[in-house]
Formats: sequence, structure tokens, C-alpha cells
Amino acid sequence: MLFKLLVILHTLGATVWVGGHLVLAVTVLPQALKHQDPDRIHQFEAHFEGFGLAALFLQVLTGLWLTWIYFPGFQNFGAFNSFLSQYIAIKLGLLVATLGLAIHARFFIIPKLTQATLNALAYHIVGITTLAVLFVVLGAGIRLGGLL
Ligand code: HEM
Repeated sequence: MLFKLLVILHTLGATVWVGGHLVLAVTVLPQALKHQDPDRIHQFEAHFEGFGLAALFLQVLTGLWLTWIYFPGFQNFGAFNSFLSQYIAIKLGLLVATLGLAIHARFFIIPKLTQATLNALAYHIVGITTLAVLFVVLGAGIRLGGLL
């Protein structure tokens, strides 16, 4: 029962994190670039930031918990001798890349967001969204017993 609940929460968190970034990247960002209007991104961020970060936190918590169930005590996880441990390790790599991009955007670009820095933020948004979609692809791969 716990396992099923964790998978449901993990999937729910994924809809928020990935869905929110797809809306940002596919609908808000092109409009902001077209009109050279950083405020459109500020407005979206003001509503989504807290909710999105809560979803990411839920992903990490439930993801690590699921991993603990698959590899109790994380034993045999480090051997990377199964598709499961390999996919989870890649997800951890995606997480590090996501945090790097998110921290750089949040503390170095968004506070001084102008028309001049809009392009830099656009690259970050596209990067984080691409990583988010890859999270889903790998997650589905785990459920499907491998992607190949
Ligand atoms: C934003 C980040 C993440 C997203 C969007 C995401 C998305 C997903 C999705 C859509 C699934 C498939 C669920 C299913 O149908 O079974 C999944 C499964 C899984 N994810 Fe994540 N994930 C994220 C982060 C993580 C992290 C950080 C870990 C842990 C290191 C993790 C570990 C797992 C595991 C172990 C499964 C397999 C669960 C199962 O047996 O189905 N995920 N993930």
C-alpha cells in the first residue's frame, strides 16, 4: 500500500513540475520573447514558484523513498548492474543539473531580469523543461522495465 501511495504522489508531483514548466516554456515564454516583456515571466513565477518547488521537493522525497524500497539501505544500488539502478542514477544526475540551472536562474538572472537578460533566462527555462521531460521518460522507463 505504501509503495502504491508513493508512486501516486510521485506521479502527481510530476504533473505539477513538468506541466508547469511546459506551460511556461510553450505558452508564456514565447509571448515574453515576442513582446520583449520580462514581466510576463515574473507574473508566472510569482504564482508557480512556491507550488513548483513543493512539487520538486515531493519528487525527491518520494523518489528516494521508492529507491529505498527497491534497494533497502541503498544496498547494491551503487553497483549499477541493473537497468533500475542505472535509470535512478541518471535521474539523480538530472536532479543535480536541474538544481544547478534553477539556482543560477533564481539568484543570478531573475532578480535583475531585463530585456537584455531575457534570452539567458529563456535558455534556462528550455533546459529545465527538457530535463523535466527526461525525468518522465526515465520514470516511465522504470515502470516499463526499461526503454529499449
Ligand atoms: C522532477 C523530478 C521527477 C519527475 C518529474 C519524475 C517522474 C517520474 C515518473 C512520471 C515516474 C513513473 C511513475 C510510474 O508510472 O510508475 C517516475 C518513476 C520513478 N522515479 Fe521519478 N521523477 C522525478 C524525480 C525522481 C527522483 C529524484 C528519484 C530518485 C532518485 C526518482 C525515482 C523514481 C523511481 C524509483 C521510480 C519508479 C517507481 C515505479 O516503480 O514505478 N524520481 N518518476
